[in-house]
Amino acid sequence: MQWWRESVVYQIYPKSFQDTNSDGIGDILGIITRLDYLEKLGVEAIWLSPVYQSPNFDNGYDISDYESINPEFGSMEDIELLIDEAKKRDIRILMDLVLNHTRDKHKWFLEAKKGKDNPYRDYYIWRDPINGEEPNDLRAGFGGSAWEHDKKSNQYYFHLFSKQQPDLNWENPQLRQEIWQMMRFWLDKGVAGFRLDVIDLIGKVPNEKITVNGPKLHEYLQEMNQEVLAGRDTLTVGEAWSASPEIAQLYGDPSRNELSMIFSFEHMVLDEQPGKSKWDLKLFTLLELKHAIAKWQVALDGKIWNSLFWNNHDLPRIVSRWGNEKEYRVESAKMFAITLHLLKGTPYIYQGEELGMTNFPISDMSEVNDIETHHMYVERIKKGYSKKDIFHSINAKGRDNARTPMQWSGSKNSGFTDGKPWLHINPNYSDINVEAVLADPNSIFYTYQQLIKLRKENPVIIWGEFKLLLEAHKQIFAYERSYKGETWIVVANMSEIHVTLNLDDRQGEKPVVIGNYPKKTYQLNKLDLGPYETFVVKDNFL
Ligand code: GLC
Ligand code: CA
Repeated sequence: MQWWRESVVYQIYPKSFQDTNSDGIGDILGIITRLDYLEKLGVEAIWLSPVYQSPNFDNGYDISDYESINPEFGSMEDIELLIDEAKKRDIRILMDLVLNHTRDKHKWFLEAKKGKDNPYRDYYIWRDPINGEEPNDLRAGFGGSAWEHDKKSNQYYFHLFSKQQPDLNWENPQLRQEIWQMMRFWLDKGVAGFRLDVIDLIGKVPNEKITVNGPKLHEYLQEMNQEVLAGRDTLTVGEAWSASPEIAQLYGDPSRNELSMIFSFEHMVLDEQPGKSKWDLKLFTLLELKHAIAKWQVALDGKIWNSLFWNNHDLPRIVSRWGNEKEYRVESAKMFAITLHLLKGTPYIYQGEELGMTNFPISDMSEVNDIETHHMYVERIKKGYSKKDIFHSINAKGRDNARTPMQWSGSKNSGFTDGKPWLHINPNYSDINVEAVLADPNSIFYTYQQLIKLRKENPVIIWGEFKLLLEAHKQIFAYERSYKGETWIVVANMSEIHVTLNLDDRQGEKPVVIGNYPKKTYQLNKLDLGPYETFVVKDNFL
């Protein structure tokens, strides 16, 4: 049980992973052709971003049928084959479930729209106008009001994302039953769990303007657990932008029977002005970054399981974001890999991270696919923002940065497709690609492979207690992990500045367990670290 504490999960964004029928869109058969690659990397689970029937307006996060597959991605047989083929390689499949909203083309919504007495009406959230206007001033994540007027009934429906993504009404017990049944449908097919999209929103109370962490959120998750998950060995990870370590306990305390873990984002929003949007950037220090990480490590230690990630399909590539994608691309990518995988929790790798894939620079809106970015652009142009500012934000934070197709080789279209790719391929694919990293024993790929292997062989990585070292150091992120008398020390120069320091008075050379510079040993009392230099040693003095 609880294999997920010991495993590393790999996120696949199917649209950009591997195309097999030359339509320029990745597909499920494409994933199957790459399972050997994932097995070589060593991952034991795949989080598959949504492949359900969907108009793909928000790339699958707008589901119109939870129990069928988008023909662009393949068929139900294809997904069953994927589950089987993955299993042969000891890889489990996690489905991505969007339960906060459906697409407006979902049959429930099509029915609900028919009128106030339709049996599906109450599956969604409808309110009468107030003084002829929206019931209140709640805003949608993708811009504009959260309320959309329905002419036919003269009511408004509620949507926290685009108006094509109406929010489900979780208060309705029948709706919940349909959801439980659908989840069982997937588990019965052999999937090993779910990533639960924006799960912190399902308990919303629009009348009181409560969107996140609503009063019934945890009641619903406990019901989900009883009805669907109990007795099954699943991994469930909830996306919870609003979570604090205290809230994480509500989701993840094993005695409460809710989820295995959540994704928390405190370390991912440090570059945002508090209270504003993700596009409003601010400078932050490495000190803040390591303190945000350490805070979660310490608060959850021994009680609640953590998830660990730098990247996903909504975030820019970490190596471009907070590393150096130019002269220290390899060093900084490995630094991020090592510092993350040695923390306590389940690490997630987002496709291409293991190659050190970088952001794609955007200079014109015609290059943008992401609906969030399009909405923001229109809104900000109206408000009078300069194009320069807008593009600065897009290049820093836009979601297309990480959604460009996987770079498999240096040949045409990076080996992703024979057709025209749905989104531009980063021109650096001739240098940065799977073929190249596999051929180079010092590549980022082998650092990831080694990290995954170390995890399998060393319980200290999974279970060890975490302790932050050099708390106030402005460049160095250093910590210890200890378990059953064994201590590992992780030291990372997260900056480009040369750093010399004495970490420990005891003398002697310590052999490197894993690192990103060619050195074989380190002397902790005489450290001299170059840009992004990172290493792990065992404290064998004890
Ligand atoms: C989540 C998904 C994101 C999607 C949104 C709405 O944040 O990760 O891609 O657009 O929810 O479903
Ligand atoms: Ca295809």
